[in-house]
Amino acid sequence: MLTVAAVVLAYLIGSISFAVVVSRVMGLTDPRTYGSKNPGATNVLRSGNKAAAILTLLGDGAKGYVAVWLVQKFGPAYNVGNGAVALAALAVFIGHLYPVFFRFKGGKGVATALGVLLAIEPGLGLAVLASWLLVAVFFRYSSLAALVAAIVAPLFYVFGHDVAWDADPRIGTAIALMSLLLIYRHRENIAKLMAGKESKIGSKKKA
Ligand code: G3P
Repeated sequence: MLTVAAVVLAYLIGSISFAVVVSRVMGLTDPRTYGSKNPGATNVLRSGNKAAAILTLLGDGAKGYVAVWLVQKFGPAYNVGNGAVALAALAVFIGHLYPVFFRFKGGKGVATALGVLLAIEPGLGLAVLASWLLVAVFFRYSSLAALVAAIVAPLFYVFGHDVAWDADPRIGTAIALMSLLLIYRHRENIAKLMAGKESKIGSKKKA
């Protein structure tokens, strides 16, 4: 029962789209109407407002972190363990992708997944963040960086087992599913990257 409550709460937390909320509060255009039309930090950056993009990144990342942290922190007292952590991780991520508050049209999940990974294992989150940064700095494509990060995340989790952390197959499965969903949500970006038409980080919006 408590696991169900944790999953529902995580989904609701994930459903808060910070790209939309931050843009609305700051009086900016709705990010779902320009650029890639994606409610995410990369697209908010196309508005030219860096502060809004950073706030979106932090908000979407924090919700992933908080949803997992809540279960880690309070779950053990109620005999709720890694199974619930894995489900909450998936639920907050799915909430971001298919938010109940925004007609199930959400983002691509990069910042939220990063928050989830940082909560699951800070070393894992930092390693995946470093991979994202490396690709982003060298190639200047946010989507390519996200795709590489999605591929390495489950690999890092598995290969970090016994070296840096104890891996749990339920959490490993949740990470792998998040990666698959994230790649699926980037299918338009993949087509654009292959066609050489993907926009680089920092390029301004097109309606
Ligand atoms: O965080 C999403 C990013 O990977 C791609 O965003 O707006 O270029 O489709 P966008």
